[in-house]
Amino acid sequence: MNGSVKPEISHAENRIVNGVFVISTRLNDKVNAMTAAWVQRASFDPPLITIAVGITRYSHDMIRESGVFAVNVLGPDNIAAGKHFGLKTGKKTDKFAGIEYDAKVTGSPILKEAIAWMDCKVVSYHSAGDHTIFIGEVLDGGVLKEGAKPLVYDKDGFYK
Ligand SMILES: Cc1cc2nc3c(=O)[nH]c(=O)nc-3n(C[C@H](O)[C@H](O)[C@H](O)COP(=O)(O)O)c2cc1C
Repeated sequence: MNGSVKPEISHAENRIVNGVFVISTRLNDKVNAMTAAWVQRASFDPPLITIAVGITRYSHDMIRESGVFAVNVLGPDNIAAGKHFGLKTGKKTDKFAGIEYDAKVTGSPILKEAIAWMDCKVVSYHSAGDHTIFIGEVLDGGVLKEGAKPLVYDKDGFYK
């Protein structure tokens, strides 16, 4: 990690298409969530998904310790939620203050405004440079807004 990744490499990597998600977790009585684009399916059966979480994120150690997380899928109407959970850290603020949410099998927050959710337990994790890849088995999931399209991450559109 020396901060000298060739700009051409980042430019090419930015051609990888990602959605926008809010990854939530619960450790005892504490809940937190962060926005993530690096979320992927990994196995049909059992249903596995991966999330890449930066090692400096407050959520990182919470997920390591609790072994659970939920993936909330955002739609085009949820950009404000993507900014809310993605531009500040739970180290300093309670990002769930005043926000209503549901909880399913793991207790990780399920946003009422999400278009779909997956509730997961961590089955393994792997160090990946400045991130950790958590592999989660999806214990339960559901679609909250039938027919709603997922938000595709586009830097220019997201921040405008
Ligand atoms: C659109 C968007 C996508 C993001 N994707 C990721 C990601 O895939 N992995 C990651 O570790 N951080 C990602 N982040 C950054 C975290 O959401 C951000 O650092 C957040 O403040 C971490 O919160 P926490 O410290 O409470 O865990 C993303 C942020 C935004 C706005």
